[in-house]
Amino acid sequence: MKVGLIGCGGMGTTHYLSYKALSEKMNVEVTAIADCRQECLDKAAEVWPEATKYHLGMDLIKKAEVDVIDICLPSYLHADHAIAAMEKGCHTFIEKPVCLTKTDCDRLLEAEKKTGVKVMVGQVVRFFGEYKYLKKVYDEQKFGKLKSIVMNRVSGDVTWGYEDWFHDINKSGSVVLDLHIHDLDFLRYMIGEPDEITVNSTTFESGMPNQVITSYKFGDVFANVEGSWDVSSKMPFEAYYRACFEEATIVSSRLHSPHLTVYHKNGTVEHPELTPEYEVENTSSNINIASLGPYYSEIKYFLECIEENKPVGIAPLSEGTKSVLLALLELEQALSK
Ligand SMILES: NC(=O)c1ccc[n+]([C@@H]2O[C@H](COP(=O)([O-])OP(=O)(O)OC[C@H]3O[C@@H](n4cnc5c(N)ncnc54)[C@H](O)[C@@H]3O)[C@@H](O)[C@H]2O)c1
Repeated sequence: MKVGLIGCGGMGTTHYLSYKALSEKMNVEVTAIADCRQECLDKAAEVWPEATKYHLGMDLIKKAEVDVIDICLPSYLHADHAIAAMEKGCHTFIEKPVCLTKTDCDRLLEAEKKTGVKVMVGQVVRFFGEYKYLKKVYDEQKFGKLKSIVMNRVSGDVTWGYEDWFHDINKSGSVVLDLHIHDLDFLRYMIGEPDEITVNSTTFESGMPNQVITSYKFGDVFANVEGSWDVSSKMPFEAYYRACFEEATIVSSRLHSPHLTVYHKNGTVEHPELTPEYEVENTSSNINIASLGPYYSEIKYFLECIEENKPVGIAPLSEGTKSVLLALLELEQALSK
């Protein structure tokens, strides 16, 4: 399978390194790369020297003969590029958030229906071992019923974006659509749609939300979830949950080792073993991501869906758009206060 990768910045680097690792196991190669910054193109070409280089994503879509287009552009550019890629007949992987408006959700869904290509959204938390474990024990009711869950995802201020697009609410949708969407998407995936949401937020000096704390009610299950871009870029990245079941409490923290602990009601403490398909730490993307494993797994899953012609079950477009709609509702509440 030939892949065209658009956007070779922070996330694009994570993706092209994942394709490199996958190319040792699967019939896949990145044959075209696009980035409007020459230095990003040159860095990607060190990993994929044979790939044809383009400066504009739309040029790659028009000219490159590829089976798959993978879009790692700033979020405000996702929808137009994804629709053009689908209309070219390419299977399309789109980073999260899949888009930033309801109109674009509708346009994307329409293009998917019209073209029949396979589309997947990079809601990668669905592929993290600690979160897969949580969904499994929830589905199996291994520790009884879930009563409540507290989650947070805290990042240092995001300073690496092209033309500082993260700090423009019209380009990123703020911390709500960019970072917090990971957890709300996971909650939707595990529990379903919330019955009620209450949002509190703080803002950067510009007025754009930089911290959101949302309380959800799913029937009689409560969730309290924080997403934050700290004022300091030095704040270490943390993704945390504490899920309280009837028979045990599960705690997952990126900042603790081992990441995952189960505290049983009878007083025993367990660290379930997670068995990632691929485990490599690589910091060359220069963003707050080091572990390539979950990105490798989500891309591998998408390629298998294409190869085996099976539906994209785990993070299809219909799910990515529903998470955008919930995030937009939360952003609206945050901005109205
Ligand atoms: N899944 C995750 O864990 C995760 C983590 C970080 C970012 N993301 C998402 O990935 C996407 C990209 O984020 P990033 O951190 O890589 O941003 P970035 O700014 O580092 O990278 C975007 C790249 O796109 C390039 N670009 C801009 N316009 C272009 C165009 N028209 N044609 C070709 N190249 C163009 C820029 O030069 C830049 O290198 C965003 O949607 C972001 O929300 C996801």
